[in-house]
Amino acid sequence: MLAVPAAVLTLWAVNAQASTNDDIAKRLEPVGKVCVQGQECQGMDVAVSAGGGAKSADDIIATHCTACHSIGLLGAPKVGDTAAWKERADKEGGLDGLLAKAITGLNAMPPKGTCSECSDAELKSAIEKMSGLK
Ligand code: HEC
Repeated sequence: MLAVPAAVLTLWAVNAQASTNDDIAKRLEPVGKVCVQGQECQGMDVAVSAGGGAKSADDIIATHCTACHSIGLLGAPKVGDTAAWKERADKEGGLDGLLAKAITGLNAMPPKGTCSECSDAELKSAIEKMSGLK
């Protein structure tokens, strides 16, 4: 029976790694420094997604929207094609109108663009980024 000792060993290792809050704080410290000094807050991105906080527009777009919006699948307005987005925004009464349609879905556009866990603000930031509209 190799499985049992292996499991016990794993548990012990996890315990030993995160034994005190101080240890955890120490391990997080470099992340904080990277974010204060760096231009791109790479470490923070990881920490934020791990903690379930706000998602960046780029993350949302990459995970949920590009599948259709990068190549204009099924007639989706393309990322960066501001003219196409502007036409739609004008029709829907601005960015908030687009947001409303993105939330409910529109023909082949699925509700919330498949990001069911996205907040309205997160969806809006993704739309702003894809369209280049403000
Ligand atoms: C399965 C493909 C697909 C995915 C995934 C998708 N879209 Fe779309 N989207 C479409 C299509 C197709 C349209 C055009 C619908 C139409 O006009 O008939 C569209 C249109 C839109 C519009 C314009 C709505 C309007 O009123 O004209 C917005 C805003 C939008 N998408 C946002 C998003 C966001 C944000 C995401 C990611 C969170 C996303 N979409 C993901 C296919 C998709």
